[in-house]
Formats: sequence, structure tokens, C-alpha cells
Amino acid sequence: NEKQTLFERIGESELHLLIERFYTHVQKHPDISDLFPEDMSETIRKQKQFLTQFSGGPDDYTMEHGHPMLRMRHMPFHIGEKEADAWLSCMHEALLESAIDIGTQQELYARLSHTAKHMINHQSDDR
Ligand code: HEM
Repeated sequence: NEKQTLFERIGESELHLLIERFYTHVQKHPDISDLFPEDMSETIRKQKQFLTQFSGGPDDYTMEHGHPMLRMRHMPFHIGEKEADAWLSCMHEALLESAIDIGTQQELYARLSHTAKHMINHQSDDR
């Protein structure tokens, strides 16, 4: 049903699993693992809140933390094209491992690609 939100189509438990798998990949990715704390439990908790509201579910993130201001919250970290690509590849892997239907995966991935590109705060990336 196209009137359903992404959150309704994915379901909370599958969304949570997706995020847990995603951070397992992040933790192993040579281009971004060093940016994250060793204990990712708080990172995971906040990302569950954020992606819940991002996908059309309840505003869990804003209720606790206020306006997301995501780009600003990422300014302390060096994010070039390489880091954005790494983030997205971890998400792609986690989506492939999920039980989410392919159309919904593609829709979520497209929206996340857009947001990931928006997080880039270092343009001159020597690679
Ligand atoms: C926080 C990296 C893209 C959502 C963080 C943190 C890092 C990071 C290092 C801090 C983690 C912590 O201290 O616990 C990156 C990199 C990205 C990226 C390298 C590549 C483009 C995204 C995208 C989204 C997102 C696309 C959302 C769709 C968040 C949220 C937080 C966060 C909600 C928690 C903010 C808070 O402290 O309240 N990210 N991120 N990030 N990121 Fe990203």
C-alpha cells in the first residue's frame, strides 16, 4: 500500500535489526570505523530513534534530543565522499541481509543516499 509510511512497511523490529546489522558493518569498515566510539550502544539507540522518525514513524529522536540538525551534528567529523560512500555501503550490506522487500529497500536507500551526501563537509578528498 503506497499510503503506508516506510516505517509501517518495514516494521519496528525489522528496522531495529537493520540498524544493528548496519553498525556491525560500520565497526569493520576501514574508512569510517575510527570515527565511532568503541561502545556503539548509544549511537545505535539514537539511530533507532532517528530512523524511526525519518521513515515516517513517531518523532522519537526529536522528543529526546530536539531538532536533528544532522549536518551540524556531523561537523566534528571529517566526512568526505569516501566516508559517505563507506556509510552507504554498510547500509547497502545491511539491507541485503534484511527481510525488507526490495522496493522498500530501494526507497529507503535512495532517501539515505541523499542525506549521506548532505553530510559531506570536506570536499577536497585526496583518494
Ligand atoms: C552520529 C558518522 C551519515 C545519522 C554520528 C556519529 C558519527 C557519524 C561519527 C557520532 C557517533 C557517536 O558519537 O555516537 C557518519 C558518517 C556519515 C554519516 C561518516 C557518512 C555520510 C549519517 C546519515 C544519517 C546519520 C546519512 C541519517 C540518515 C546520525 C545520527 C547520529 C549520528 C542520528 C546521532 C546524533 C546525535 O548525537 O544525536 N554519525 N554519519 N548519519 N549520525 Fe551519522
